[in-house]
Amino acid sequence: MKKIGVLSGGGDSPAINAAIRAVVRKSLALGYEVWGIKDGWRGLLEGNLEKLTLDSVSGIIFQGGTILGTSRTNPFKREDGPQKIQENVKRFQLDAIIAMGGDDTLGVAHKLNKMGIPAVGVPQTIDNDLCGTDYAIGFDSALSIVTDAIDKLHTTACSHHRVMVVEIMGRDAGWLALLSGLAGGADVILIPEVKFNYDDICRRIEERRQRGKQFSIIAVAEGAAPEEIGTQVTQKATVDAFGHVRLGGISSVIAEEIEKRTGYETRATILGHLQRGGTPTAYDRIMATRLGVKAVELVHNGQFDMMACVKGNQIDSVPLEEAVAKVKPVDMELFETAKLFY
Ligand code: F6P
Repeated sequence: MKKIGVLSGGGDSPAINAAIRAVVRKSLALGYEVWGIKDGWRGLLEGNLEKLTLDSVSGIIFQGGTILGTSRTNPFKREDGPQKIQENVKRFQLDAIIAMGGDDTLGVAHKLNKMGIPAVGVPQTIDNDLCGTDYAIGFDSALSIVTDAIDKLHTTACSHHRVMVVEIMGRDAGWLALLSGLAGGADVILIPEVKFNYDDICRRIEERRQRGKQFSIIAVAEGAAPEEIGTQVTQKATVDAFGHVRLGGISSVIAEEIEKRTGYETRATILGHLQRGGTPTAYDRIMATRLGVKAVELVHNGQFDMMACVKGNQIDSVPLEEAVAKVKPVDMELFETAKLFY
């Protein structure tokens, strides 16, 4: 009999519970025991675990958030962190850990494998920026929330003849801004991968005015930056345990500049954590379920230091090392397609 520990780390998203449910159901079907590690890696540092049963995961497939809690804890930032993890893995007799999260959380899982602690990963981030997988849990739900927000901004922008700048999450990659901008019919999309130019943005707004369109929607990823300055707009100078600054505010900077240059009334909207909340979409629940099942299969087959992944329509696996090596930038072909509609 195997004992599996499961955790969710980093920023949450709507379909994590569907993946936890799948991990528990598949593990129990194989005769394994599952322990939920609370609040990401912090739970393993502090020995905060609880046994998960069929009842623990009953009725959670449509619940947003994560029943296990999450945190941005980096055990390798604490001097005694790796040792504490070793001790608790031993104490709870865990044979393997399934970690759900983005590059930070899965980077820790990769390091644990190197220390001899078997771990596998499940991709989960609304940023959808993990390498080696076409999809990360949470993305479709966030995409649907942001697209809905852009639709709503359209109607008020149109009534007031305004320019609306909508700020969308995405620190290093613009997947969410790009695809929501495409789906929502944004007039300009700004992403971290491509530095933007105010002259270009204002020219597009003017062209629309000349066509009789008195309003414009600018979709901007929080990590986008102008050519002239080149640096991202941050809320705080401090960094988290993984060295990330808290981004936010680029929409206001852009709105001010557009108003100054064009004279058109402009407003900024930061969607913030609304993008990570609420009920998961059907697609997200299905992908989370398939990825959760795959993670247990990886453990069952002794394929550690791997991440369950999506390749086309298939569920597959990829080495964790590859998944966390770098950020997956947006597909530039898609960016060019979106530009056709500016
Ligand atoms: O990593 C996912 C993410 O949603 C990023 O897009 C965003 O920059 C960050 O999390 C926000 O983190 P927090 O919830 O810690 O403010």
